[in-house]
Amino acid sequence: MSVVTPPFAPIDASAPPVQPPAGWSAAYDALTTGLVLLDAQARVLAMNGAAQDLWSVSQKTVLGQPITELFESSEAMQRALQGARDHDFTALRFEAVARQAGALVPVHVVVNEARPDAKVLVEVLTLAQQSRQERDAHWQQQAQANKELIRNLAHEIKNPLGGIRGAAQLLQMELVARELVDYTNVIIHEADRLQSLVDKLLAPHRHAHARAAVNIHEVCERVRSLVLAEFLGGLRVQRDYDTSLPELHADKQQLIQAVLNVAQNAAQALVAERANGTACIVLRTRVARQLTFAGKRHKLAVELHIEDNGPGIAPHIRGREFAPLVSGREGGTGLGLTLAQTFVQQHQGVMTCESVPGRTVFKLVLPLLAANDN
Ligand SMILES: Nc1ncnc2c1ncn2[C@@H]1O[C@H](COP(=O)(O)OP(=O)(O)OP(=O)(O)O)[C@@H](O)[C@H]1O
Ligand SMILES: [Mg+2]
Repeated sequence: MSVVTPPFAPIDASAPPVQPPAGWSAAYDALTTGLVLLDAQARVLAMNGAAQDLWSVSQKTVLGQPITELFESSEAMQRALQGARDHDFTALRFEAVARQAGALVPVHVVVNEARPDAKVLVEVLTLAQQSRQERDAHWQQQAQANKELIRNLAHEIKNPLGGIRGAAQLLQMELVARELVDYTNVIIHEADRLQSLVDKLLAPHRHAHARAAVNIHEVCERVRSLVLAEFLGGLRVQRDYDTSLPELHADKQQLIQAVLNVAQNAAQALVAERANGTACIVLRTRVARQLTFAGKRHKLAVELHIEDNGPGIAPHIRGREFAPLVSGREGGTGLGLTLAQTFVQQHQGVMTCESVPGRTVFKLVLPLLAANDN
């Protein structure tokens, strides 16, 4: 991308300030799509937060400026605006190139039909943002469908399971031959094992949300002591905390469970490293600003990285590690990461993973939600 000059000449300080028009909602700032409202002369009347981010300008700087200044070639935009004023369409979509201060950025533009007062609303989305949003939406639909399937299946299994176990117990009481009791014991034992699997499958759907102010470091400290107690010796759990982080509005138990599941996986993967005393897990917290994920824009979020120096995620499950019942571990149910991800999503957060031999990092990004934002 070539470097271009900033789109706007310095604003004339003596000119009267242009006020955003009535009807322009502050709620537009929560959208991930850039919005620009134009007057009949195609000058900027208002710009939401996403559009200001896209052009790296403040609303004040651009008010009253012609929109064509914001794009590399003004021709397509001028034609579209003419069409909008002539009511040729309700919405016209086209690709254009936005002129940022330091670069040219391909964008997707939607010009809407002019309003009765001749104002025109223009939507702008970077192409990268658009394809990410499409991917996100597809992935979310898929995840939702999976969750429903699992929940329904788990309920179907749960109901007859109680009957099978009860019947086996009754049968056991009637049995005279001791050797036959071994068989009923197998039935009871296996029914219990299935019961606990079904309970794990249903766990994310059962918890009532008990949200309050939570310090992420209390969550980390709890997980740290639980993991150190479970994996005695040969394992270090390092803290790398940004102690200035604000508190989250969250369900503490859910967060502890989510982080514990990830940290336990790391400790379990560090078999050779624990044996030779080099095993290390790092719990790192950072603040993140101006993020867009799961179709929402967040001003502030807390990032937690859980990093280990183990062998990395086995190639045959790489990319599927969050999927339910996918396990690369002897005796694993493959539900730990699914549950962790569900809990993080219930906090409107996202969880990702990067893994190469010697370094695996799970990143949990939790937006700072308001108390009424559940
Ligand atoms: N830090 C890690 N390093 C290497 N492999 C990992 C790591 N974290 C997860 N994995 C792999 O991902 C798989 C899925 O993890 P997940 O927690 O969902 O299930 P599990 O640990 O097998 O079973 P459980 O339901 O008991 O947690 C693991 O079996 C393991 O193979
Ligand atoms: Mg696990």
